[in-house]
Amino acid sequence: MFTVKDALNIDMIDECLILGVFDRPIKFTGIGKEADEQLGGQLTELVKAGEISSKKKTVAKIHTLGKLGVKRLVFVGLGKEKELTFETLREALGKARKTISESKLTTLSVALDTFTTENLDALDAAHAFSEAFELASYQFAGYKQKSNQVEKSIEAITVYSDADKDEVGAALHVGRIFGRATNSARTLVNTPGNLLTSTDLAAYSSALGERYGFEVEILEKEDMLKLGMGALLAVNQGSVEPPKMIVLKYQGKDEWKDVIGLVGKGITFDTGGYSLKTKAGIVGMKTDMGGAAAVLGAMEIIGELGPDQNVVAVIPSTDNMISGEAFKPDDVITAMSGKTIEVLNTDAEGRLVLADAMTYAKHHGADYLIDVATLTGGVITALGMDMTGSMTNDVEFYEQVQKASEEAGEPMWRLPITEKDKERVRNSKIADLNNSPGGAGHAIMGGAFIGEFAEGTPWVHLDIAGTSTTSSSSALCTAGATGVMARTLALLVETFEAK
Ligand code: BES
Ligand code: ZN
Ligand code: ZN
Repeated sequence: MFTVKDALNIDMIDECLILGVFDRPIKFTGIGKEADEQLGGQLTELVKAGEISSKKKTVAKIHTLGKLGVKRLVFVGLGKEKELTFETLREALGKARKTISESKLTTLSVALDTFTTENLDALDAAHAFSEAFELASYQFAGYKQKSNQVEKSIEAITVYSDADKDEVGAALHVGRIFGRATNSARTLVNTPGNLLTSTDLAAYSSALGERYGFEVEILEKEDMLKLGMGALLAVNQGSVEPPKMIVLKYQGKDEWKDVIGLVGKGITFDTGGYSLKTKAGIVGMKTDMGGAAAVLGAMEIIGELGPDQNVVAVIPSTDNMISGEAFKPDDVITAMSGKTIEVLNTDAEGRLVLADAMTYAKHHGADYLIDVATLTGGVITALGMDMTGSMTNDVEFYEQVQKASEEAGEPMWRLPITEKDKERVRNSKIADLNNSPGGAGHAIMGGAFIGEFAEGTPWVHLDIAGTSTTSSSSALCTAGATGVMARTLALLVETFEAK
C-alpha cells in the first residue's frame, strides 16, 4: 500500500497531496512554496482569507482546478513547531484522513518532511501517519440488511521523504500494525454478546495463535475443575455457555525467563448476576471483554513485530448470567490460589475471574503481571472517560507501563492502595477475602482485591471501564469501542527492561 520516494515533484502527483503547515506565521516553504508560485500566489491569499490555517488539527482541502499536476492539496494545521507532540500529530493526521474520505479518493501522496520538527523526525511522522490513517478509517460494519455505503478504501499511498527509504518504510509498517491491531480490538468489543461468546473468543485467540506461531492453551470446564479455578467457575455457574481460560505464549528469548503476563478480563456479557444491573446499566455490557480485546490486540502487534521478550497472555472468559444454578451473594468460593472469597456482590465478577487468571499466569511463569479490565463504574466517577485508572504494587514496573501509555497516547492515572484498603478486602468473618467491601472507592477496592493474587509479583492493574468505549466520535475513533491499551501493552513489551 505504501511506496516511499524522494524527489517530490508537484506536477507528477495525481489525486491528492497532503502537507503539514506550521505556525511560523504561515509561510510556504519547499513544495508548498512551489505550489503557491505555480498558482500565482493564490495559496498565500487563501491563508490571508483564513481558508488555510496553521491552527492545530485544522484541515483545508484545496482544489487546484487543473493548474497543477496534483488535483488537490490538503493542508494539515500543526500549530507551533516547538509545541507539536506525537499525539497532536496523530490526531491532525486522523482529521486529514476523515476529510479525504469524504472525497472518495483511492490514491494519495504525502509530503512527509513537512510534518517533521526538531523533536519529531521523519520516522516518527511516518509512524504517526500510518497509525492515524488506520485508526481514523475504522468503521464497525454492523448487521444492517442494507449496510451503510461502505467507504472506498485508499489503495495506494506515496510517501515522499528525504530520509532513508527503508527506515521510513519500516516506520510506516509499524504504525500500520499498531493501528490495525487497535482496530481488531475495537471490533471484538463492538461485537454483541450473542455473536461473541467465550467459545468464539477462544476460537479467535486460537486462530491468532496459529497465525503467529504462539503456543495456545484453552482450558475447558473439566480442566478448571481439576485446577481448582473456583472463582472463574462460580461466575460461569449460571450460564449455558461454557467458560474458557485462554492462554497464548510468545517466546522471544532463548530461555523462558523475565516473562510478562498480560491478563485481560473477558466477560462477554455482564448482567450483574443476582446483584442484577438496572435496565439502563445493563445496556452496553457486551463491552465487558475490553481487557481481553486489549490483550489480544497487543498479541497481534507482538506476533507481527516479534520483539525479543517473553509474554504469556491469559484471558478468563465467560458471561455473567442468572439461573437456578447461578452463584449468589453470601456464597463462599475457593480460588485457584487457595484463597477463599465471600461473595457479597455477584456484579463484582471481574475481580473473581481475574483472580484465577492471575494465579494461572504465575503458574505459566509470569514474573511481571499487568491486568486490564473494564472493572468498575467507580473508575468513571473518579477519573472520567479519558483516563485509565491504574494501581500497582511496584513503582519501578509501574513507571515502565506509564511511559508506554504516554507514548501510545493512552493516558493513565494512578490511584493509591493503602494498607487499610487491603484490610477492607480482607474483611470477612468467614473467608479470606470479600469481593465488595462497600461504596467507598470502588475502583480502589477492585484493584486491591486483584492485588491479593499478585502475591509479591510486580503488578500493574489497569481499569479501563471509562476508556474502553466512547460515546462520541473523534479524529481517531468512531463512537463505540476505542481499542484502548492494545498499543500501550505492545509498547511496554517492546521496551520492557527486567529488573
Ligand atoms: N463490568 C462492570 C463495570 C463497568 C461499568 C464496565 C460500567 C463498563 C461500564 C463490573 O463488573 C461491575 O459491575 N462493577 C461494579 C462493582 C461493584 C459491584 C463493586 C461497579 O462498578 O458498579
Ligand atoms: Zn459486574
Ligand atoms: Zn463486569
